[in-house]
Amino acid sequence: MASNSITTPTPALLKVAALCGSLRRASRNRGLIRCAIEICNESIPGLKVEFIDIEPLPFVNTDLEKDGTYPPVVEAFRQKILEADCILFASPEYNYSVPAPLKNAIDWASRPPNVWADKAAAIVSSAGGSGGQRSQYHIRQIGVFLDLHFINKPELFIPAKPPQSFFDNDGNVIDPDIKERLKKILLSLQAFTLRLR
Ligand code: FNR
Repeated sequence: MASNSITTPTPALLKVAALCGSLRRASRNRGLIRCAIEICNESIPGLKVEFIDIEPLPFVNTDLEKDGTYPPVVEAFRQKILEADCILFASPEYNYSVPAPLKNAIDWASRPPNVWADKAAAIVSSAGGSGGQRSQYHIRQIGVFLDLHFINKPELFIPAKPPQSFFDNDGNVIDPDIKERLKKILLSLQAFTLRLR
């Protein structure tokens, strides 16, 4: 017999590949990614964040490309990006721009076929005085060529020396307001990714 009960559809599970521009052990940007993982596990059904480590990647060198294939560690990284539904960049600003390790990772995944294409993305940053605004806009500019589609709002720029500390000494987010703002970014990324589908 047919049931009259109404069931709430389970939201599609979207995978977020999270890349950190800092390789520092106590990186605050890495802390933002840990926080994003927790927020999704606890309170955003349908969104799962995975940290993708870019440290093992060699420097981009097209001599390492053989007949359209890449070194195994690069292939594994590119596969993670390909499988992701959307991207979260958490990066400091280095000399007004994108830190070299992150740019290197971006460049590897842009080699043919460009595995960034048509994905939604969001950026958060903890950096010096301005909180990483200039580097965020450089990532957006790079994303034009990559065919990434960024959420515009909300934005999250966290200055390194605020009146109060938003992070502990290990780079963990300890400020409830930052957690709330990060959650809003993740919700916006989720909604935008679903719209793009
Ligand atoms: C920096 N930092 C920095 N900050 C900023 O706001 N604008 C800048 O141009 C730079 N330039 C810069 C260059 C280099 C080589 C380093 C190592 C650092 C400071 C940096 O953004 C800050 O320390 C971040 O908090 C580091 O992020 P993690 O490692 O905590 O994630």
